[in-house]
Amino acid sequence: MCGIVGYVGHQKAEGILLDSLRRLEYRGYDSAGIATLSLENNLYQTEIRRAAGKLENLKVFVKKNPCPGNIGIGHTRWATHGKPTEKNAHPHQSNPITLVHNGIIENHLQLREQLLSQGLVLKSDTDTEIVAHLISAEKKNNHADFITATRAAVQQIKGAFALAILDENEPDIIICVKQSCPLIIGIGLGENFIASDFTAILPYTNQFIILEEGDMAVVKKDSILISNFYGIEQKRPIKFLDWSPSVAEKNGFAHFMLKEIFEQPVAITDTLRGRLSFAENRVVLDGVHLDKLKYINRICIVACGSSFHAGMIAKYQIEDLAKLPVELDLASEFRYRPVLVDAQTLVIGISQSGETADTLAALRHAQSKDALLLSICNTLESSIPRLCQHSAGTLYTRAGPEISVASTKAFITQIVVLQLLGLGLAQQRDQITEDNLTRQMNALLQLPTAVETVLQQDSHIQKIAQHFVSATDMLFLGRGALYPIALEGALKMKELSYVHAEGYAAGEMKHGAIALIDEQMPVIVLATRGHVYEKLVSNLEEVKTRGGRIIGILDENDDTLKSRCEFSIPIPIVTKSILAAVATVPLQLLAYHLANAKGLDVDQPRNLAKSVTVE
Ligand code: AGP
Repeated sequence: MCGIVGYVGHQKAEGILLDSLRRLEYRGYDSAGIATLSLENNLYQTEIRRAAGKLENLKVFVKKNPCPGNIGIGHTRWATHGKPTEKNAHPHQSNPITLVHNGIIENHLQLREQLLSQGLVLKSDTDTEIVAHLISAEKKNNHADFITATRAAVQQIKGAFALAILDENEPDIIICVKQSCPLIIGIGLGENFIASDFTAILPYTNQFIILEEGDMAVVKKDSILISNFYGIEQKRPIKFLDWSPSVAEKNGFAHFMLKEIFEQPVAITDTLRGRLSFAENRVVLDGVHLDKLKYINRICIVACGSSFHAGMIAKYQIEDLAKLPVELDLASEFRYRPVLVDAQTLVIGISQSGETADTLAALRHAQSKDALLLSICNTLESSIPRLCQHSAGTLYTRAGPEISVASTKAFITQIVVLQLLGLGLAQQRDQITEDNLTRQMNALLQLPTAVETVLQQDSHIQKIAQHFVSATDMLFLGRGALYPIALEGALKMKELSYVHAEGYAAGEMKHGAIALIDEQMPVIVLATRGHVYEKLVSNLEEVKTRGGRIIGILDENDDTLKSRCEFSIPIPIVTKSILAAVATVPLQLLAYHLANAKGLDVDQPRNLAKSVTVE
């Protein structure tokens, strides 16, 4: 939800800001803007360039109207307060202060009234502009310097905010403020960088400081001073990241999403590395404080979107393996309920980004009831793992940065680590035989190859997608652990193709959704062999009888069922424990190709953003 960047150093800021914003655009693309401080006639002045729409519009504008200077800030917006127009684009200014903001100022209405009553004229409809005026007012009314004025202003605002701030009168400083939104500082030689996440500035540095809640940093080209909002100095460690900058590039693929779909075999292999010990016949849950889980008697999973679907699969996996009851809640619901959790409950938060506001709040809610917290996360050092570090810890997926708004490789690796967790708990609770454990570990090892096999269907799936470009509705049906995959397939289709799609438990269809089926309705049926195969075949026939257009996701040798479908996508025959992961891949490709065939922007679907850091 909005990305912010900053640069101070010896190079021209403009190019670095625009380049960094390009890698952050997944966080929002309603508008973009940069501001620099440039020296003219011995006086610094603020140059602001903004444009509605995607970053490309800003680039065109900046090309015609360069933005000189060696210090600057930038922003890519996901609109919350105020329409996505140029007027509401960041940076916002109240001379001599200019700033960019990620988050929401919750008390902005009250502050707005206060400022209006002082005769101030506001130029935008945003909550952000208020903060610029507050700092500016502190400077003017109380003769405060930039740092003191900022400190006084942030003490007045409530909500979530990551800010990068410039002051025309103190032109060698960027002040950064972090409260409930991510913000990192990249360390260079005679230059420093600011960004909402690592990937934005990876080409420039691999040394970072991660700001913590309530931090305020004064960043110059050769120094970084961190204090809290009350001026007490804070020490933060420097972290090294060995990611290659190419992780945030498309590397020849048309879209990040396609690249990330094709990266899944490697992402799974990386996620499994070192976690299957055949020598000792056990799974290694690095990062999880297993000893703390000895006396848990139930699990609650909280997550949103695709991560929630991974949690649904985990319910099947963990209950089956560890014989522990697993409940599931949408994080946005859990956080506002008087939930019945206690010290014997393990609450698992699943999040690719580690920054999703609802999931973070749900975990905090559980923490307040003494529950144990564990996170499944893809982003190192993000807020959710940090919250869990002194509780049960974090089991990281190792998918690498996921840039596409639609989650693919993060989702599949979530399924993998949750299966590992199920095995680890089963072992700890003596619920699994040695033989079964070896079998289950071997099954996981087969997963990358099985996914490779499905990826070979890419052009076949692309051709199928062409037949459905004018579809307005779709149904996805599955049973057991393939029911969450039906939901995930429908979510991918909705968010990318803007097709109204619904995932259904196949057995539930006859209780209502069957009324939707006519000759126009594409129905994707996940009908691999298993203990409910016959039931699924019956459900498929029910659809066929009513004229629905069936796309079957079938076992590769199931010629009988293939003959009953208009189209079919064969997937390799795999054991039940990895079937959900394998079956998700054709649905990712189907949604991708359909959106692409419709000419839609696959990596940046309308109205969405990758990290949902607002409620
Ligand atoms: C899925 O394609 C979406 N990007 C979305 O549903 C996502 O899974 C959800 O917002 C949760 O994000 P998180 O995993 O980063 O918490």
